[in-house]
Parts: sequence; C-alpha cells; structure tokens
Amino acid sequence: MKNNNAILITGGAGYIGSHTVVELFKAGYYPIIVDDFRNSNKSVIEGLTELMGESPIFYVIDVCDKTALEKLFLHYSFKGIIHFAAYKAVGESVADPLMYYRNNILGLVNVCELALKYNVNNFVFSSSCTVYGEPKELKEVSENTPKSEPNSPYGNTKLIGEQLLLDVQKSNKAFKVINLRYFNPVGAHPSSLIGEFPIGKPNNLLPFVTQTAIGKQESLLVFGNDYPTNDGTCIRDYIHVCDLAMAHVKAMMFLENKTEECIEAVNIGTGTGTSILEVINLFEKVSGVKLNWKFADRRKGDVIEIYANAKKANDLLNWKANYSIEDAILHAWNWEKKLVEHV
Ligand code: UD1
Repeated sequence: MKNNNAILITGGAGYIGSHTVVELFKAGYYPIIVDDFRNSNKSVIEGLTELMGESPIFYVIDVCDKTALEKLFLHYSFKGIIHFAAYKAVGESVADPLMYYRNNILGLVNVCELALKYNVNNFVFSSSCTVYGEPKELKEVSENTPKSEPNSPYGNTKLIGEQLLLDVQKSNKAFKVINLRYFNPVGAHPSSLIGEFPIGKPNNLLPFVTQTAIGKQESLLVFGNDYPTNDGTCIRDYIHVCDLAMAHVKAMMFLENKTEECIEAVNIGTGTGTSILEVINLFEKVSGVKLNWKFADRRKGDVIEIYANAKKANDLLNWKANYSIEDAILHAWNWEKKLVEHV
C-alpha cells in the first residue's frame, strides 16, 4: 500500500512502543504496529484507538518470523523503522541467555535484512544506558563516555545490537541509524488510556511502588542503603515515557532530513539523578498515600549511580524532557488506579 508516511513499529503494542505510536500519529506519521503480544496486552489497542480517534493498524507477527515480516515490506513502502521488539528483563536474561540472544539479536538481524532489501533507510533502535555499565568517575554520562561491559545478557544484546547496526551502516552508507540510549522510562500517558502492564511481579522500581501502594504487593524492598550516595540508595535518571516517545519522533524526523550518512547514539534522559528514597518521598507527596517499604540487601548487578548528559539530544534532535518526575509519578499512579478499576 502506498502511504508515504508509513513507519514500521516493531513491538508497537509494548510500553514504550504504544506511547510512541501515539506521538508518531499526532506528528502526521502512519504507524504500522508489529507485535505478537507475548509481553504486551491486547487492551492497549482500545486505548490507542481512543487516543488516535481511529483503530491503529497492527499485525500479530513475531519479528523472528522473517517470512511473515517480509509480507509487510511487500505491502507497505515504509519510510522508516523503529525497532522496539525485544525482551528486557535482566534476571530472566541471566537465567536464559539464549532466549535473549535468539529474540533480541535474530529479530534485529531479520528487520535489518528486510530494511536493506526494501531500501528502508531510516532506522531507530531501542538501546539502553546499560551499555555504559557502571560509570567510572563521572556519574553523568555522555555519548562519549566509554561503553563498558553491561551487567547482563540483556545488556549485552543492546551492546551487540549497536555494534551490529554500526557494521551494517559501514557497509551500506544509505542506511541511517540512531541508537536511542534510554535511561529509566517511567509514568504513563496523562490520559491514563495507555501505560505499562507489568507481567508477574514487577522488577522495576516505580511499578513496584504503585503496586505496593494499591495493595497488589505487600511491601516495597529498597535494595541497599549503604551505597556511596547522599542517602545510601541508588540513583537513576527517570524519564517520562511520553517524553521518551517524543524522542523517537524527533529521531525519525532527523533521519528523514539527513542527506549524508548517519550513525549516532543519543542519550534520552532528563539529566537529573534521583535516589530511591527521593522517589518514595515524591510518590507519597504526589499520591497522598503512605508507602509500606523497608530496606533489604543490595540487588546483584545494580549500578550505583547514573544519569544522562542529554545535551546531544537537545542539539542534534531538538529534544528535551518536558515532564517532571512528579508528573511521571502522578501519571504512573493514575494508571495503577485505572488498572484496578478495569480488573
Ligand atoms: C533495570 C536494568 C536495566 C534495564 C532497565 C529496564 C538492572 C540491574 N538493570 O534498570 O538494564 O535497562 O531495568 O527498565 O536490573 N529497586 C528497589 N526495589 C525494587 C525495584 C528496584 O530498590 O523493588 C531499585 C533498584 O535496585 C535500582 C533502582 O530501584 O537501584 C531502579 O531499579 P529498576 O527500576 O529495576 O531500574 P534499573 O536497575 O536502573
């Protein structure tokens, strides 16, 4: 089909993918979602329909199934690809690394092969600040901070993904790539129509906070109180998922307008670090709910402190975070309350 603004969004029904679909649509793109819903929830389609005013176009396809995926490349002439589809649970990746390498690397290889075959030359990859490992001296990392060994097979798949794209770009100069290195995505759409659906017990901090506050979890465990930080707890850069989604739109616009070769890594974060205890205090302030929490041992493999230098995102993509961490926490809380209403 000829729609000159079609963008393939693999993993478009997932947490970050679904918010990106909304922002792309609002910006005049025509998002085509590919997702097999193994880690997402079908009800996201209802939320997207309400936000977009029309049903999103989606195909239930596993990106590892190249034959099925190729049919879409024959049907649409994509202007670009945003590749989200991947596993992302650190612990699970340690337990079953091959599952991670198969899904995250094979999926990327398939999408890249089809991109080259059908001349789809604008490519945005979902990478992660995990590629920096534990920052040595400076906790504020820029794209020039040397990469170091990630703490998990999941992290390795992101590092290998970036390397793979660099090699592909070197041999195909028309293929333009932006690796977006996400810091810690949190929050939900302000409308509470879409958000995150953690499967099982959440691993990430904010879903655990909201689930504890609503009573789904008994108590939040704060992993470690003896780190060399102001209050002894780990520090992260929490970025609102809608700001992160917008970064993908800006990256796609940038690639479209770029006439020379391009392979860039760009940090997507707020530039501010927040400790776990600060997150808890902000949550209690924003929600008015007293959180049940206690200290526990350190979690193996945790980075102590990391936050983004987000200057390049601003300079190159004309992007910066607009939402505050209070907004993100409020939207996450509103979404949690909405999930309960719908159970
Ligand atoms: C984790 C992954 C990272 C991945 C990201 C995806 C690790 C070591 N890193 O990041 O590679 O890209 O998720 O979103 O798993 N915390 C608690 N109690 C909890 C949950 C978390 O104290 O119940 C703490 C953690 O120890 C950490 C902070 O909260 O200090 C943030 O944790 P989390 O949300 O899991 O994010 P990351 O560890 O930064």
